[in-house]
Amino acid sequence: MRLVLLGPPGAGKGTQARMLETQLGAPQVASGDLLRNAVREKSALGIEAKGFMDKGALVPDELVLKLIDARLRERDAQKGFILDGFPRTVSQAETLAKMLDARSEKLDRVIAISVPDEEIIKRISGRRTCRECGAMYHVIYDPPRNLNLCNSCNGELYQRDDDAEDTVRMRLQVYAASTRPLLEHYERLGLLSAVDGIGRTEEVSGRILSALGRGLKAAAAKGTA
Ligand code: AP5
Repeated sequence: MRLVLLGPPGAGKGTQARMLETQLGAPQVASGDLLRNAVREKSALGIEAKGFMDKGALVPDELVLKLIDARLRERDAQKGFILDGFPRTVSQAETLAKMLDARSEKLDRVIAISVPDEEIIKRISGRRTCRECGAMYHVIYDPPRNLNLCNSCNGELYQRDDDAEDTVRMRLQVYAASTRPLLEHYERLGLLSAVDGIGRTEEVSGRILSALGRGLKAAAAKGTA
């Protein structure tokens, strides 16, 4: 299964991608995580990307594409993947299509998760992430047993630099201007399914799995799958 999860910052793309990994037998490929790893490693790419990320702006395509291309070539992504945070513009979507075409592959489905802005601000301001294993918590909706430590690996929990309220508002503007047009792009290609992102994480993932089933059936009936 080659899947893209679309949605505004804080919509739950990362949470859902991690939950779906086992059910779909495909790894999460998160552009934000790849970029944050590069920043942590202080690579030349990471140093250049950091300035854009801290402002809530998009990182230039050539940097993001380098990371995505390398990640999609890894062994575990050969039979499928769950893209989270990429593509983010129509131009990135077109490059992805060419990249896959060169490998005689194509996307199976794109799921757009919708969540209203006020809920997004609440979700992002309460998010805590484990430095060691990347597990995600929310101080109210999904609190860890100890506010500073990961339940799974005891790693330190931290708040992302770009989760300050002003930066989140900027990220929402960037989403509206640059990423929302992707919905129409994928709708036109007959690949899009919209899913309501409000509710318990298990409810949202149930909706995604149902939408995937319906979308794949419809594509098979049209002969596009
Ligand atoms: P990225 O890391 O991709 O951030 P984002 O898209 O803004 O999304 P988030 O990771 O903030 O949210 P999410 O939708 O994954 O939600 P989550 O599951 O964490 O990108 C960061 C930056 O990198 C960008 O601003 C840009 O600079 C750069 N970048 C990345 N990709 C790029 C690209 N392709 N091109 C150019 N630049 C790029 O959930 C959020 C919180 O809500 C958590 O606390 C979670 O526990 C909680 N939660 C989740 N689901 C629920 C639920 N159903 N109910 C209640 N709480 C919930």
